[in-house]
Amino acid sequence: MKASDGPIGLFDSGVGGLTVARALARKLPNERLLYFGDTAHLPYGEKSPEAIRSYALGISRHLIDQGAKAIVVACNSASAVALDVLKEELDIPVYNVIDPVVDYLHRHHAKHIGIWGTRATVSSGIYPRKLAEVLPTADVQPLATPLLVPVIEENLLSGAVTDAVVSLYLNDPKMEGVEHLVLACTHYPLISSQIAKQLEKKVSLLRIPTIVANSIAKQLDEAQLLRAKPATKPHHFAVSDYTDSFAKVSRIFFGKGISLVEENIWG
Ligand code: DGL
Repeated sequence: MKASDGPIGLFDSGVGGLTVARALARKLPNERLLYFGDTAHLPYGEKSPEAIRSYALGISRHLIDQGAKAIVVACNSASAVALDVLKEELDIPVYNVIDPVVDYLHRHHAKHIGIWGTRATVSSGIYPRKLAEVLPTADVQPLATPLLVPVIEENLLSGAVTDAVVSLYLNDPKMEGVEHLVLACTHYPLISSQIAKQLEKKVSLLRIPTIVANSIAKQLDEAQLLRAKPATKPHHFAVSDYTDSFAKVSRIFFGKGISLVEENIWG
């Protein structure tokens, strides 16, 4: 079997990475995805960098054991703190969800950028650091928005609670003057329409899953890792702890017939 025939492995702490998986499945219909949601350790955003690194490495090795030809870190928190260790330890390509967004903002000459992310992503300082390299005069305002992941994992994708949490963060003084809002957590696009409806007209909300999927598709193509023909097996979705919320969102995204299993890789 050629390396390019294998599946693409993706992981996140829970349902968030499904936003990336769906965009990638649409962009690359020939590909088979192996998705792992580490629901046993959710939320990653509240974990230490050391813990996130060890989860990321364990999951990536599990995906490689299942034949993954490349790993997509479909989680900003893990992309922020675990990328170096994954690149060092794994001998297949590893793609992250941060570089494509930095690249997009660079290409669009963004000047006033708001970043919403988990505590792990914001305290890593990764976005201001990477953006300073390509857009040294840009005003970058990272804001930790930790209430959003529990709201989304509770399946409160719309309604009064979601609106109130979104409004709380949009009214933070750091958001003043922001022109581009980056949802720097793969969970947040699940409520992007709730965020969009409260945004002032001058603020553009980046379509992160599409931006990320386009970039990863290009990188896979350059690495000659794209399948020539459609995969015969369906996508595979696994979680480390079965939750109804994951089952529900994965079915909304990928149809009722998806195979979803619990794989207790943590022993
Ligand atoms: N979806 C993840 C991210 O992009 C992590 C959410 C969490 O588990 O805190 O950061």
